[in-house]
Amino acid sequence: MCPGNSFIFAEKSKSVSIELIQNTLLKDNFSREDLVILLGADEEGRKLLFEKAAQVKNEAVGKKVYFRGLIEYSNRCAKNCYYCGVRSGNKKVARYRMTDDEVLEAARFALENHFASIVIQGGELFTQEHIQKIGELLLKIKEMSQGRLGITLSLGEQTEETFRYWFECGAHRYLLRIETSNPDLYRKLHPANILHRFETRLKALEDLKKIGYQVGTGVMIGLPFQTLDDLAGDLLFFKNFDIDMAGMGPYIEHEETPLYQYRQLLMPRINRFYLSLKMVALLRIMMPDINIAATTAMQTIDPQGREKALMVGANVIMPNLTPVKYRENYLLYQDKPCIDEEADECQRCLEARIYMAGCEIGWDEWGDSLRFKRKNPSQINEKP
Ligand code: 5AD
Ligand code: SF4
Ligand code: FES
Repeated sequence: MCPGNSFIFAEKSKSVSIELIQNTLLKDNFSREDLVILLGADEEGRKLLFEKAAQVKNEAVGKKVYFRGLIEYSNRCAKNCYYCGVRSGNKKVARYRMTDDEVLEAARFALENHFASIVIQGGELFTQEHIQKIGELLLKIKEMSQGRLGITLSLGEQTEETFRYWFECGAHRYLLRIETSNPDLYRKLHPANILHRFETRLKALEDLKKIGYQVGTGVMIGLPFQTLDDLAGDLLFFKNFDIDMAGMGPYIEHEETPLYQYRQLLMPRINRFYLSLKMVALLRIMMPDINIAATTAMQTIDPQGREKALMVGANVIMPNLTPVKYRENYLLYQDKPCIDEEADECQRCLEARIYMAGCEIGWDEWGDSLRFKRKNPSQINEKP
């Protein structure tokens, strides 16, 4: 597992002059070196970066924030990622799968509260039963909502055939984080076996794109062994792959995972938070018309983390609709917020937060990625 090699990571690796930040921000295209400079910006430089990102966001996607009701469908997972609290090796977690009725109820809540879209997220499973079950659920949700609910899936790597089947059943967006675009770092974060291959993850992303999904990916920020150069590479990877959506957030250590032993290598949480904000801001500048999520992990570190992410470039939020009784069993990382709040409490709380951040909510709008729409004008059904 994770070899104990040398560690070089700081939010601010070396002092970067404000003139250099200003000049770099003026460029049309950022090189890897430019990105490392910007990721290393101090408080003063960071402010300039955030201002520029806010301006780009306003011009490209405006003030609207789109809600995706998050349904944490099941914590059963065949995989054993070294960073994740619900990895199969963690025997302390009680495993669950929501019933069809519970999923439908959550989907109905989303519809009635004008969210327009849901995300079904869960661990990676490959049984025929699971694949079939998801297909049937998709059909039931489409029927219940008369096609009005947009559905995003986040159920890990699957075969092209399975992705296609779920697409035909009604899913139209898929989230699959690359976790890191550096294959060497990927290997340090995952067991060395056939279930955890970087190449398979890449192929899955390619398959999703080919089938016609809006594809979202992302990385964890502030991982042990990760460098600013790795993160610069991640941003370039997003751009080269031409992603439609992104979800990124700070890595947060979990006691019951192998990566926990490297916690002394981590930068302070607050630095991971600022680095995550910089990643969001830079990606917004580099890809002005994609959708970027303000992730829950941001809020784990800063109570206003999601609002801050909205202010520097994010435009999607995922209120949690998972029944409260399951939430403590879906802790990918520790200190996750909203464990005891029912869906309606989170909704009200988030609404207030979004308005405080100077944004508006795109009620009843699918809010599909503008970039995807521009690439595929015929495939979009914005207001069903
Ligand atoms: N800290 C932050 N994010 C995590 N994820 C899994 N474990 C952690 C952690 N300890 C993220 C991964 C995964 C997503 C579902 O949750 O990026 O893709
Ligand atoms: Fe399973 Fe996803 Fe956690 Fe990996 S990150 S162990 S695939 S739930
Ligand atoms: Fe869940 Fe605020 S978003 S309580």
